Amino acid sequence: MNERKEFRDIEFARSEAARMVELIRRPESEVSQEERERITRETTENFANHINKGFLEYRKSVTEAGDFALTEWIGQGSIMTDALGREFIDVLGGFGIYSAGIRHPEIVASVKAQLDRSPQYSQEMLDPLRAHLAKVLGYLTPGDLQYMFFINSGTEAVEGALKLAKFYTGRSGFIATTSAFHGKTLGSLSLMGKSVYRKPLMPLMHNTRHVPFGDADALERQLAICQQVGDDIAAFVAEPIQGEAGAIVPPDDYWPRVREICDRYDILLIADEVQTGLGRTGKYFGVDNWNVVPDIMCLGKALGGGVVPMSAFVASPKIWKVMEPNPFMHTSTTGGNPLACSAALAYIDVMVREDLPGQAARKGEYIMGKLAELQQRYPAVLEGYRGKGLLIGMEFATDEIGYKVASGLFKRQVLTAGTLTNAKAIRIEPALNIPDTLVDEVLTRLEDTFKEIK
Ligand SMILES: Cc1ncc(COP(=O)(O)O)c(C=O)c1O
Repeated sequence: MNERKEFRDIEFARSEAARMVELIRRPESEVSQEERERITRETTENFANHINKGFLEYRKSVTEAGDFALTEWIGQGSIMTDALGREFIDVLGGFGIYSAGIRHPEIVASVKAQLDRSPQYSQEMLDPLRAHLAKVLGYLTPGDLQYMFFINSGTEAVEGALKLAKFYTGRSGFIATTSAFHGKTLGSLSLMGKSVYRKPLMPLMHNTRHVPFGDADALERQLAICQQVGDDIAAFVAEPIQGEAGAIVPPDDYWPRVREICDRYDILLIADEVQTGLGRTGKYFGVDNWNVVPDIMCLGKALGGGVVPMSAFVASPKIWKVMEPNPFMHTSTTGGNPLACSAALAYIDVMVREDLPGQAARKGEYIMGKLAELQQRYPAVLEGYRGKGLLIGMEFATDEIGYKVASGLFKRQVLTAGTLTNAKAIRIEPALNIPDTLVDEVLTRLEDTFKEIK
């Protein structure tokens, strides 16, 4: 049923807005079964009519769900419940947003408290939360990383890092890695390591090159060529562990060698920690796995505690000096707003107190041990696995097997990534505080799925 009356109907728009606001303000117990079914039905229609029909073909929540598509409604910890009350164990973690789980009570409480003071900033008075968060993060980040700028998404963090590298070096060139993912705005897209997203938008930033991820010799060769032919490079940009590519871990000497090469060629090293940062890989930051300090670090996803979007780019005082003469060279009206800062401060407190990096390291090792056993038992299904902490990728022999695993898990009420467009690798990226019992439950359901496919 499409309730749209005509193209423009302001009173209809208002009443529809009010209907949803009234619904979400009501206690859960007062939402009727009929209303739940209506939300479910309407969400699919609204996606088709106003978001993008294309998504409906790729979402297992539609293709595998039978009569009613799964429409998320309430989340808590590692459980996501749909509007009709069906519960899923979340091991997708919003692709890294939910490092502290969904709706961590202390993060929610912090944001609610700030909401009762002031939700956004005036743009003129000094805002204490942003300044305090910068100090706190300065004490958390490695080396002399200390100055930062806050924005709302990972790609904005990368854009800011690129601008800072250009300001500081006065050069325009960048080297990125194959299979890299840094976001989908035009600057970040220039660094993207996959042609499908990049090619239709060419030309992107000029003087951007790619070298194979994990190959320090290739970076050195590329820099030597750039030097020889006079292409000035500002920075090398990479993820410590490639996330979207399926948790690709580089050789152990890669990051230390990259650091040394960047220093020798006098270019900046930008670590995109949007996905690997803040506990995910078993350390506070991905680069901590190899004790490397980058010149600029990008953060995002988990920084907002899974409650408010939040991201940052961070650098040393030496580099940040170039931002001082005219601080308006980079601005954002909503970046680092008080709600986001209250979420980030609470996340950092929770992360350290609950030892989320330690939990990620321990659970990651446990899961990978179990995957080794599963690989032995089902070699035709599970071809390989890799990862660090709770950023784990499973690799399947074919796209078809991968898709079957993703939908088999979905049928067993486990939420994972893995779609028709990228089925061969499935990521396991749960909350870092996922209870051990749920980890075991997921592994049981994974084995049941493998058995069925075999
Ligand atoms: C390493 C990395 N950088 C940047 C981004 C882009 O973040 P966002 O989608 O918030 O723009 C992502 C998103 O997956 C990412 O994994």
